[in-house]
Amino acid sequence: MITPRKIVEELKPYVPGRSIKEITQKYGVDPEKMVKLGSNENPLGPSPRAVEAIEKNLNLINQYPESNLENLLKEIADYAGVAPSNVIACGDGADEVLDVLGKTFIEPGDEFIVPLPSYMYYEFTLTIHGGVPVFARWDMEKNTLDVNSVIDALSTKTRIIFLCSPNNPTGGLISKTDIEKILESTDALVVVDEAYFEFSGVNNVDLLAEYDNLFILRTFSKVMGLAGMRIGYGLSNPRVIEYMFRMKPVFSLTKLSQVAAMATLQDREYIKRSTELAVKSREYLYREMSKFNSLNVLKSKSNYMLVDVHKTGMKASKLTEELMKKGFIVRDCTSFRELDEYWIRVSVGTLEEDERFIKTLKDLIE
Ligand SMILES: Cc1ncc(COP(=O)(O)O)c(C=O)c1O
Repeated sequence: MITPRKIVEELKPYVPGRSIKEITQKYGVDPEKMVKLGSNENPLGPSPRAVEAIEKNLNLINQYPESNLENLLKEIADYAGVAPSNVIACGDGADEVLDVLGKTFIEPGDEFIVPLPSYMYYEFTLTIHGGVPVFARWDMEKNTLDVNSVIDALSTKTRIIFLCSPNNPTGGLISKTDIEKILESTDALVVVDEAYFEFSGVNNVDLLAEYDNLFILRTFSKVMGLAGMRIGYGLSNPRVIEYMFRMKPVFSLTKLSQVAAMATLQDREYIKRSTELAVKSREYLYREMSKFNSLNVLKSKSNYMLVDVHKTGMKASKLTEELMKKGFIVRDCTSFRELDEYWIRVSVGTLEEDERFIKTLKDLIE
């Protein structure tokens, strides 16, 4: 029997958020009544223009999609304020962009830096390509990056540094000054993950003109409401982009994903509404959850917030299970490195869902 690569035996699986189907089957909850606050999605649903564009193109799925992505790259460039030559788009979301980064820049034994806690997929993907993770520190007290811990982690083997801003799962931002400090300290590629930047009101696109070792990672899964279509993109200097296009699977972005992404980008009103709803919901959830003596909620600039549940006396696994029985999915953060078993992450919902969630939480922990 053939044996797999060593990494296949050793790799710890990535733990994604739970799906509605999985939970309704397990707990017998009516799927119609299930509220998903676990995967940082857009509670508004997709843009109606995206749905219309998909419907219009359904009878073309017998054909291969465009591989040069010309129209989509132009539309993204316009949205981001860069030139099309600064843009790569990928088909399994920002996760595929991460995979292409690994394929393009990581030789076995190269190091990459991840401050902890942060998005776990960086480690998962780059390890597959033979990368070796070196961990830096997220300052949980101040909810920002411990910039010196990143500088200290640099070595001659460092190839990529991941800076997630707003950070998943903590919701805190990294200051532009700190990002610049890191960009200036290394020739390695500094990947600033802006999957959630719209909710924070800030971005780092202006730094692209100054630093050719900057890569900005983004997604259509959050404010754009297209998590199920799997579209991600990256912004960097044209050389980095061109190298990456050599490694990207040629047809990984489906025709339906392309038209949905284009239509959503053209629906600026939807993007605005989605952002406003998320910010409103975030502030409501923060305010209401902060009233519970047994919860410590981290202030967030994103569409989710991290909550320390130690004082409830319940582990996150227990609390999230009790919530699921009552129809609410939130994220148990036990699988995040550097977080213990007492953290949950709550994503924004519609205001009506938020109110029901707070009421249910009150019944459970007070
Ligand atoms: C910080 C961060 N980056 C990237 C991604 C990947 O997004 P996707 O693959 O859905 O585009 C996520 C998904 O949750 C994320 O939280």
